[in-house]
Amino acid sequence: MSDKPLSIVVLISGSGSNLQAIIDALSKQSINAEIKTVISNKADALGLERARKAGINTIFINHTEYDDRLSFDQAMIQEIDQHNPELIILAGFMRILSDEFVSHYTGRLINIHPSLLPNFKGLNTHQRAIDAKHVKHGVSVHFVSNELDGGPIIAQAEVPVELNDDAETLRLRVLEKEHMLYPQVTQWFAQHRIKLENQSVYFDQKELSKPILISQAFTEE
Ligand code: GRF
Repeated sequence: MSDKPLSIVVLISGSGSNLQAIIDALSKQSINAEIKTVISNKADALGLERARKAGINTIFINHTEYDDRLSFDQAMIQEIDQHNPELIILAGFMRILSDEFVSHYTGRLINIHPSLLPNFKGLNTHQRAIDAKHVKHGVSVHFVSNELDGGPIIAQAEVPVELNDDAETLRLRVLEKEHMLYPQVTQWFAQHRIKLENQSVYFDQKELSKPILISQAFTEE
């Protein structure tokens, strides 16, 4: 733990329960990382409150005040780059990002998506998993690329779909796994174990042939 802490910026739009899970893990599990700032495009995002409570700097950038997607993204880039972060975490950030933004942060921009990608990109993933009669659903953390929910996948956690599940019961069980998976992946970044190279994910210098499947609770290593 003598290395400099990994500097992180988190982008949110809403509840911020994943942000909370990462904040909790950072304090409890002594991950060698620091959230420099939390940016939201919604003034009333509960996640902003969570960040403030944890003593983390917060910024609200109102996307409706910008003429187009690119100028909003440029305003975000300006804020983010002041902190020179090694990792930018999308945690329920509900805006599509421009190609310019995505390329600017290639290899250090990650997202969490509530499905076993490549299944169910986009919205309403839980209902779609039920409708498709999938017996296995789950969550993925992936590098962000120019294709929506389409970047190289780092890790996943599975959740069985029960016969009596509706979208809400399934969402809550997936969310529990999200809260385990995102801190775990963050820890790996803090340990410099994950890297993106030529669109492939490397873990401990080895190219992954498939995403890491996590089944156990987050543990300090
Ligand atoms: C999560 O379901 C996440 O997978 C998706 O957006 C939701 C954010 O929830 N990308 P929260 O704001 O972290 O509670």
